[in-house]
Formats: sequence, C-alpha cells, structure tokens
Amino acid sequence: MNQAPNTRKAFEYLAETYARFPVVVEKAQGVYVWDDNGKRYTDFTSGIAVCSLGHCNPSIVEAVKRQADKLFHISNLYWTVPQAELARLICENSFGEQVFFCNSGAEAVEAAIKLARKFGHETRGPDCYEIVCLEGSFHGRTLAAITATGQPVYQRGFEPLPDGFTHVPPNNSRALELAVGRRTAAILMEPILGEGGVRILENGFLKTARQIARDTGALLIFDEIQVGMGRTGSLFAYQQTDVEPDVICLAKALANGLPVGAMVAKKQVMRHLGPGTHASTFGGNPIACAAGIEVIKTLTDTDILERVKKIGTYLTNRLQELAKDWPDILETRGRGLIQAVEFRRPFPELASYLLERGFLVLVAHGRLLRLLPPFVIENEHIDQLVAALYDFKRQLS
Ligand SMILES: Cc1ncc(COP(=O)(O)O)c(C=O)c1O
Repeated sequence: MNQAPNTRKAFEYLAETYARFPVVVEKAQGVYVWDDNGKRYTDFTSGIAVCSLGHCNPSIVEAVKRQADKLFHISNLYWTVPQAELARLICENSFGEQVFFCNSGAEAVEAAIKLARKFGHETRGPDCYEIVCLEGSFHGRTLAAITATGQPVYQRGFEPLPDGFTHVPPNNSRALELAVGRRTAAILMEPILGEGGVRILENGFLKTARQIARDTGALLIFDEIQVGMGRTGSLFAYQQTDVEPDVICLAKALANGLPVGAMVAKKQVMRHLGPGTHASTFGGNPIACAAGIEVIKTLTDTDILERVKKIGTYLTNRLQELAKDWPDILETRGRGLIQAVEFRRPFPELASYLLERGFLVLVAHGRLLRLLPPFVIENEHIDQLVAALYDFKRQLS
C-alpha cells in the first residue's frame, strides 16, 4: 500500500465488517484495475457481478456525465424521465409491467418480501405471509434478507429473526411441494445460486415451483440480482428456462456500478403496493437510471450477449481441461460468465496467490473459486488466469 500516512490512518475510521485484501484500488478501465502502486490486475469479479460491461465503460460514463449536468436528485413525489425510461426498457424486455426502484439488492429483495406479504394478505388473508426459500441461497444483509438467505452463518448473532421464512434443499421438488401450503405467500429463489456456489436450478424443479405457486396462489419470485443483466447470456436468467416468474429482483449490474435496485412485477401483482406502502428516498436516482438505460441498450442493441455465451463456453472448456489435470478439483460448473471451480479440499492461500499474480477472483472457504468476469474479457485473459492456476497447482507439489 502506497498511501500517505494520513490516508492510511483514515482506513481505521472504517467499520471492520469486511476482510479486505491489502490493496488500495485507485482506478479501473475495462477488464483492468490498478492499485496505488500502479500495479495492474485483471478483474475476474466485475466488482462482484456489477461492472459487467467493463469498468468505466465510455458510453455509460458519457450518459452519467450528461445526466449529472441536468439533475442529481429529486424526490419520488415527482416524475423523472430517466426513471420511467429505465422501467420501460426493463418491462419491454421481460414479463414485467411495472418496476419499483431502490438502491441495492437487499432492498430489492426486501421490497419483494413486502409485496408478497401484502399480496398474500389481500388475496388470501392475514395468515398468508410465509416465504419458502432455498437452503444455500443468498439474498442480502437486511434482517429480512438474511432470514430469507438459507445459510445460518449470516444469521447467527442477529436473532430474533423475522417470522415466516422456511427453507428447502435446491432441486428437491418433493420438499418444495411439502413446504408450500395455505400460509405461503411466495416462493423465493435464485435461478442460479450465486454466492451459494454457482448451483444451477434444474428446469424440472423450476417448473414444479411454477406449478405449485400457480396452484396455491403464491407468487414465484426470482432473485436475479447476481445472474440477471446478461450474466448467463440472456438479458435475464429465467429467459433460458421454461419458467416465467411473477416477480424478479435486480441490482448489481443494472447500472454497471452506480447503486440501483429494482423489483419488477405484473401490474395486477404490483398494485398491491399502493401509494404510501413502500418508498425509498434515493430509489430510481436519475443518474443511476441514466446509467441503467445505457446498460440495457448495450445489452439489447449489440451482440454482447452472444459474446457472453461464446466466451463463457471458452471459459467452461478451459476450466474443464484444468479439472482433468488436477484431481483436487471436484467439479466445474456455471452458465455464461458465471463459473465456479469447486475443490475437494481448501486452498486458503489461493486468492492471495492469484492477487499477487495480478488477478482479482472470489474464493469462498478456500474451496470454491467463483469467476464473474466483465463481458469484455478476452480469451487471452482467460488463458493467463488458467496458466496461473496451473502454476499454483505446480507449486503445491
Ligand atoms: C443473489 C443476490 N441477492 C441479493 C444480494 C444482495 O445485494 P446487495 O449487496 O446489493 O444488497 C446479492 C449480493 O451478492 C446477491 O448475490
């Protein structure tokens, strides 16, 4: 770290809720990130699935600058064109008909939970409030979102948790059938569990969820916060399945790095959140929405989604090759540009090794390498990372 003493001291004023790497990031462009020593890293995380169209993407920077000159913020008591325009683009490219804007993923999930409860109360009575979620899922860090999250590690110490959440194992249709009943307001799931290890939900399981939700009158909510916005090769991940949900939650890559979250539903569902039932001061901020408009236009008007599929296949193939040569690899899996390598045993030093070699990656518990590169990544970047992984393997023996 090459920071002046005063700046270094300032880090102590930050809450220590993150186990950070010893790197101070100064700037980024495309697939690259530079630290304050001028060292360059290739970013295989996109800021955890955020800067999917590349860091400081020029057309998005331009859109942000244009909007910043006009209007930073106005209360949601008034209309703004960027907000309406972003909502239109989301809806015209999905099943959705209306959008509630917020600022983050957890807030989008929170909004969906509130919508589900209101919908349940108003369509089936006050006892209809339960949300059935998946074990191993991740939905964010508010109290309701950690309760929906199917990983006790995020809940410990924060009890009592809100009532009304149950969890079933992913891809277990029978368990889902048993868990859903007259109290169930919604079934909530990520079509691909991201933080929970890039676990893809099977089409059959998704179809069962759709059928059960329809039969009982519950909502089917997809959390597409990590896998939406082109990450799997279609604008939304559900579009590569046979299932259409009732609600989707978006955030992360929606504005390529500016904070915005969205909860999308059909009008007849969204109408249950009437005036005064939910709100956000910053939600749908004009600058963030201007960035979002540029993101969706890029995803829909160019061939970038084809590129995600093509380069995703290349990444899959290279990782499978690595797995053949490295018996410690249990499995590689993913879709498009969300890919994972699961090891049979932990390698706690893997992330630091790759950082040293100039790669930003995500490693959970030393055992799960998750790759979420920007869509502008090239084959040669993938080759360089795979070569570093071979080197890591070599120095083990
Ligand atoms: C699937 C999913 N849902 C929700 C969230 C929470 O989003 P945020 O950190 O913006 O609140 C995340 C973040 O990683 C996520 O991956």
